Amino acid sequence: MDTYYVDGVFVPEDQAVISVKDLAVLRGFGVFDFLITYNKRPFYLEAHVKRLQNSADKIGLKLNHTGAQICEIVEETVRRNTHHEESNIRILYTGGISSDGVTPEGNGKLLVMVTPKLELPGWWYTDGVKIITLDIERFIPGAKSTNYLSAVWALQQAHQEGAIESIYVDRHHRLLEGTTTNFFFFKEGKLITPPSDILPGITRSVILELVKDHFEVQLRDVHKEELETMEEVFITASNKEVVPVIQIDQTGIGDGKPGEKTRKVMRLFQEYTTAYGQGKV
Ligand SMILES: Cc1ncc(COP(=O)(O)O)c(C=O)c1O
Repeated sequence: MDTYYVDGVFVPEDQAVISVKDLAVLRGFGVFDFLITYNKRPFYLEAHVKRLQNSADKIGLKLNHTGAQICEIVEETVRRNTHHEESNIRILYTGGISSDGVTPEGNGKLLVMVTPKLELPGWWYTDGVKIITLDIERFIPGAKSTNYLSAVWALQQAHQEGAIESIYVDRHHRLLEGTTTNFFFFKEGKLITPPSDILPGITRSVILELVKDHFEVQLRDVHKEELETMEEVFITASNKEVVPVIQIDQTGIGDGKPGEKTRKVMRLFQEYTTAYGQGKV
């Protein structure tokens, strides 16, 4: 059985509970972050905790732990789950209990859940996937809040259409990001990804660093009208890493197979995460 951290104590997963009066339950008010391990080492833990703090700042949730304290608790929770080959790590900070059921009072609870890493289908990476677009705008997109109603809804729409992810399109017809992924494409040899109004993905930032010496990169708005001109497309996320995309809505991308440049990005990322797991970077 997995061990979780819940508000000061380590408990077996089936004893991990919070109050039903918590704002996270009543209002979806809380923040979370998610990362995985490579060779049991949490990937970019400090960056994820920093993003958790930023998310909290953006939604007006006061955290009662420093970043260093959260990192230490995460490390300890991972150490208590060494029976996993690799782990998924979810760090969650709830809104806490509120006298009027809506106003935060700064008494949120920190939870750390470490579970076995979920393996994703191999064909995603060898054959490429279909994704769809949906006209949805996230509220405070720079925050990873526990209110992921639009993500849960949008992903159901994707699954109904045989796709694995939905990309949000805003009122200006800008393609922004997926429900839990960032969006990239190649056009005329350049790697392009939206600069703002997205969650700043940790995978995205690592990839932007890794590709610097290999491709010209453009951070700019991406319009839905450009779909037809995209030569290669991929999406990124902590658990999914780099997933090649071969179809968006009804538009086929490239020659229907993961492209050469995308495969290069996948390779660079894999080499980097392997080295990270070995403590070499
Ligand atoms: C809305 C959104 N965009 C992008 C991402 C990708 O971020 P990361 O690479 O840090 O996992 C996520 C992660 O869950 C997300 O929820």
